[in-house]
Amino acid sequence: MSTNEMKPKLADLRKSYEKDTLDIHHVKDNPMQLFQKWFSQAQEEETIDEANAMSLTTFGDDGYPRARVVLLKDFSEEGFVFFTNYKSEKGKSLFKHPKVGLSFYWPGLERQIIIKGRAEKLSEERSDKYFNSRPRGNQLGAHVSPQSEVIPDRKFLEDLNTTLENKFKNKLIPRPDHWGGILIRPIEIEFWQGRPNRLHDRICCYLDGINWKAKRLAP
Ligand SMILES: Cc1cc2nc3c(=O)[nH]c(=O)nc-3n(C[C@H](O)[C@H](O)[C@H](O)COP(=O)(O)O)c2cc1C
Repeated sequence: MSTNEMKPKLADLRKSYEKDTLDIHHVKDNPMQLFQKWFSQAQEEETIDEANAMSLTTFGDDGYPRARVVLLKDFSEEGFVFFTNYKSEKGKSLFKHPKVGLSFYWPGLERQIIIKGRAEKLSEERSDKYFNSRPRGNQLGAHVSPQSEVIPDRKFLEDLNTTLENKFKNKLIPRPDHWGGILIRPIEIEFWQGRPNRLHDRICCYLDGINWKAKRLAP
């Protein structure tokens, strides 16, 4: 690879993080309140596109972890919700190995959140409610795509899309059984705030029985 002389060397790329600070008292005994605050700020921050994009890590049967981006669609005291194809690679992996990881990185706020939790299927009612709120094209997509499977070519998808468009013409599109929500119940939520000189703030909240506790970690 050639080095562009106008650009700094990759190894020299670094920035000083100075936007905010984080202390253990900001968490109190409820990390979801701080999550709510940081998430709202990320949504308001104009340099951040798709604040709800999060990385989901699962373990496959081959023992390798695999991370991919999914969209957070709801959160509450019970946990974090996204929607997917239950037969996808991630779906199969998380039903077999429900201990999963989530992470958010919001560069415009110099913040990262890392979550450990257990995945479970969201109730049918909540999945239906969300599915019915989606645009028709997205609803159709859930029927069309055999997510994570090998397909011959793009035409395969487009032909199937046309076939199903005709099938459901003037009809309500039902939620396919293989598509719905996943709830991740957190057991650990770490908040990271970038600070100067690599002396970042890290506050890790963890469940101790039914109570949340917090500890400061070295950066
Ligand atoms: C910004 C962004 C948002 C995405 N949101 C979702 C999502 O909410 N659900 C989903 O199943 N896939 C989503 N994807 C696609 C996944 O990253 C991934 O390609 C797909 O789910 C198949 O993953 P798997 O084969 O590991 O199961 C998104 C991708 C990007 C880049």
